[in-house]
Amino acid sequence: MAKILDDISRTFNEYLLLSGLTTKEHIPANVDLSVPISSFRRGEEPAQKLNIPFVSAAMQSVSGSDLATALARRGGAAFIFCSQPIEVQAAMVRQVKEHKAGFVESDSNLPPTASLEDALTLKKVTGHSTIAITENGEQHSKLLGILTSKDYWEFKDDLSRPISEFFTPLEDLVLAKEGVTLTEATELLWKNKKECLPIIDEQGNLASLVFRKDYFDHKSNPDELTDDKKRLFVGAALNTFDYMERAEALIEAGVDSLCFDSSDGYSVWQKDAIAELRKKFGSDITIGGGNVVNEEGFRYLVEEGGADFVKIGIGGGSICITREQKGIGRGQASAVLDVAAARDRYYEEKGIYIPLCSDGGLNNDTHIIMALAMGADFVMMGKYFAMTDESPTPKVTYKGQLYKPYWGEGSSRARNWQRYKQGDGPGMKFEEGVDAYVPCSGPLDKKVNLTISKIKATMCNVGVLNVKELHEQAVLTRISEMTLVEGGTSNVEQLDRIYAERD
Ligand code: IMP
Repeated sequence: MAKILDDISRTFNEYLLLSGLTTKEHIPANVDLSVPISSFRRGEEPAQKLNIPFVSAAMQSVSGSDLATALARRGGAAFIFCSQPIEVQAAMVRQVKEHKAGFVESDSNLPPTASLEDALTLKKVTGHSTIAITENGEQHSKLLGILTSKDYWEFKDDLSRPISEFFTPLEDLVLAKEGVTLTEATELLWKNKKECLPIIDEQGNLASLVFRKDYFDHKSNPDELTDDKKRLFVGAALNTFDYMERAEALIEAGVDSLCFDSSDGYSVWQKDAIAELRKKFGSDITIGGGNVVNEEGFRYLVEEGGADFVKIGIGGGSICITREQKGIGRGQASAVLDVAAARDRYYEEKGIYIPLCSDGGLNNDTHIIMALAMGADFVMMGKYFAMTDESPTPKVTYKGQLYKPYWGEGSSRARNWQRYKQGDGPGMKFEEGVDAYVPCSGPLDKKVNLTISKIKATMCNVGVLNVKELHEQAVLTRISEMTLVEGGTSNVEQLDRIYAERD
């Protein structure tokens, strides 16, 4: 007869954290959010850590190289999606690894024959007011000068005139040759009181630009996550089909962490794949497994496969319809609590700590805090990052609001059949994800800063200064529906609603 578990599948919404003693030490500035992303033995330090407990989902509509760069700069890591050809995924990894902080590609270039009107149109499209004037209007062509908004008066000058009459020519610019270090470039900007420093190659072609504002930006990114060569940290996903060939290409491209992307990781295919990769690449490379929702799945991937970290979650993703289609899954809070208890038991027994990642279904900042309090070391999010400017999809306007497309890997748009083993051969027989839109939430760093402020503030209320202490000391209470209602506003008319009705 089928076994029915005693517990009910629970979600993060059904819990609240109790406050603990907050001392003078418990201030946000003292909270350390770095967490392990690779397994380690008792008494040792993990080989790899995240500086903030966030990774982005391995999805086409989420983790491209721009998002990976922005997230690593903020202290987390992206897992570049694997539902694309191996060489394209490896090229994305390479792009992140080759990102030179401070040296930016010039995306606004024009030939000298273009008109001022063309320059204004380009400025609107890119949002950048510095335009490189090159011989043929491409970035890697001979640099002739720079046009900025200081060179013309939009409402006074004749916009049909060629920009050759306005731009600042080469002889009046401060330039540097390729090979210059960022420190030297910054020094030149500072000494010459300039906003922008063009970098040229031996032939005088434009290579990149260094901006004064990026110096301040860099200074304000103290959590930047890098490898031991100071290159940005990046992860990438694997499937259980072409994993060997894919892993080889990704490692060659410089990937820092690999992770199997599967809707159900409790399978012999994933266990064998992790074990084979381990055999081939040793313990130098981090390999995550998942997704699982119970102790059996966790132990199988760790003990028999050799997974370095384990992802938890089936059926909770915002675009996911797995539970409706197949009746498989578990409430995310129950899954995290169960696997975290299993992880702690494993640590007691073997002295090896396996970091856990809560993946999917985190619909607000409170859910993230709950996932961490319940034992996750870090969280993987799709929708949260799909909404940011840096996700790979274009912005679209609907009824005056900005949106971004967001689709599941199991939707017919992504057709990531390797993630959902539905039959013997390739292809998907039915969908497990939907194709949707999410509101645009602006730049990634601003969004993450706000969430991090909330997490740190909660940790101070709980009386803890790091995620390990949060795991050990968090006290949670289950809540009734009425408690949930009590937690919202009551008997007040909120101004924004009054204004919305009036307008
Ligand atoms: P979100 O953060 O709630 O949007 O969930 C993102 C997570 O959903 C991903 O990290 C995957 O684990 C999972 N996921 C991605 N695509 C699909 C799908 O098509 N169906 C079901 N789950 C998906």
